[in-house]
Amino acid sequence: MEKTNRNASCRCGSKKKYKQCCIEIDEKLNEFQRQGYPIPKSSLLKTIDEIEGIKKSCQLTKKLLNDLNDIIKPGMTTNEINNWVHHQTLKNNAIPAPLNYKNFPKSICTSVNEVVCHGIPSEYKLEEGDMLNVDITCILNGFYGDSCRMYEVGNVSNEASQQSKITKECLEKSIQNITPFTALNIIGETIENHAHKHHYSVVKVFGGHGTGNKFHEDPFIYHYKLNYKQMIITPGMVFTIEPMINEGTDECIILEDGWTAITKDKKLSTQWEHTIVITNSGATILT
Ligand code: MF3
Ligand code: CO
Ligand code: CO
Repeated sequence: MEKTNRNASCRCGSKKKYKQCCIEIDEKLNEFQRQGYPIPKSSLLKTIDEIEGIKKSCQLTKKLLNDLNDIIKPGMTTNEINNWVHHQTLKNNAIPAPLNYKNFPKSICTSVNEVVCHGIPSEYKLEEGDMLNVDITCILNGFYGDSCRMYEVGNVSNEASQQSKITKECLEKSIQNITPFTALNIIGETIENHAHKHHYSVVKVFGGHGTGNKFHEDPFIYHYKLNYKQMIITPGMVFTIEPMINEGTDECIILEDGWTAITKDKKLSTQWEHTIVITNSGATILT
């Protein structure tokens, strides 16, 4: 952590002096660093104004995902969903973050059945029984709001619905278990325990990520257990948790298009994602 003048106004934007505000946080972080834990660099600790901006962007993402509940129907193409979200995003003075991001060709990701993530909207017509994930990231006034959820297309099997439910629980339990000034390890531990209890596997090659001022910032959020010390969860951090839970193997293959990730055994993969902010007492869901 950089040295800050004790009498300077605090970096968080509270208008208090640093010595009466975030110095307390930095002293705790320094102690954890002495114990061998990685700590966030100060750019990862968002100001009050940044958090307000990120929250507005997240609320737009959430509204679009909510609206899709009444729109997604068998027979619809994933391109039609893409175009609807694209236009609604612009109408709300925002930009769809995926479009042209590292040459991604569309405005959202649509991942059906065995597609783990990063599915590209196409002329594929949704069929009764499909499990669809829609992942939306809006940029509003420069701030990112990233979230995804599952949609059941018409009637789906009980098994598929159950897998989606457990995946959502993995996400929710991991958020509930967050305590500031503990390590990020708790997230992967919570997700893996819940998934394995229900005999699902956890995808390892993709993770959550810091976000807010850029699409993907540090830290990488692991969705499975690690036996080494991860970063200390600190008030002001904004990141996503987005577990991908599989019916069979956790192994993935990337298709020729360079984006679409599918399960190696073509069995079902489900995913839910929120953007959260760390407060003094826990985590608050922004999406
Ligand atoms: N929204 C995805 C995530 O949760 C990222 C998609 S990258 C894209 O991190 F280019 F495919 F859009
Ligand atoms: Co994300
Ligand atoms: Co996302």
